[in-house]
Amino acid sequence: MLDRWFYISTSRLDETDAERHVGDIVAISVQRNRSLEVTGALLFTGRHFAQYIEGPPAAIAALQESILQDPRHQDIGTIACGSYPTRHFLTWSLGYAGPSRFVASKVEGALTDALKNRQGGAQALLHMLEQFAFPGSS
Ligand SMILES: Cc1cc2nc3c(=O)[nH]c(=O)nc-3n(C[C@H](O)[C@H](O)[C@H](O)COP(=O)(O)O)c2cc1C
Repeated sequence: MLDRWFYISTSRLDETDAERHVGDIVAISVQRNRSLEVTGALLFTGRHFAQYIEGPPAAIAALQESILQDPRHQDIGTIACGSYPTRHFLTWSLGYAGPSRFVASKVEGALTDALKNRQGGAQALLHMLEQFAFPGSS
């Protein structure tokens, strides 16, 4: 059985060089997640992160501890967690919604819905992540 953690957080990155910092996060994540057999997706809108990670329970717990302490974001709100039978993502991946204001505003709307209405909202946001995700090099 796998564990999963799905959350939304607010970026604390300076908007002018946020992409570079997100690049650093992804570079670490590709390596560490692969070594822990964790897959998932990270979505960055320029203002918020949404992340879904899935893998062995001990690995998810270890990552959760690191991510919760990371000063690059704040207001981390869990929208789904616990055991889950199957993986949604085959590799580690990143979706970036920043360049298009239309897309970013759609995603921002979905994030708000997911936080307010934890059931259906989380499902809709997960679907959005699946559509956005393009595979990392893991
Ligand atoms: C929004 C966000 C998502 C992150 N996702 C991951 C991740 O999936 N895997 C990972 O190894 N680190 C991720 N990190 C980085 C970790 O917080 C941490 O810096 C890194 O894993 C190194 O861990 P350590 O400082 O405990 O050694 C993320 C950071 C942020 C801000």
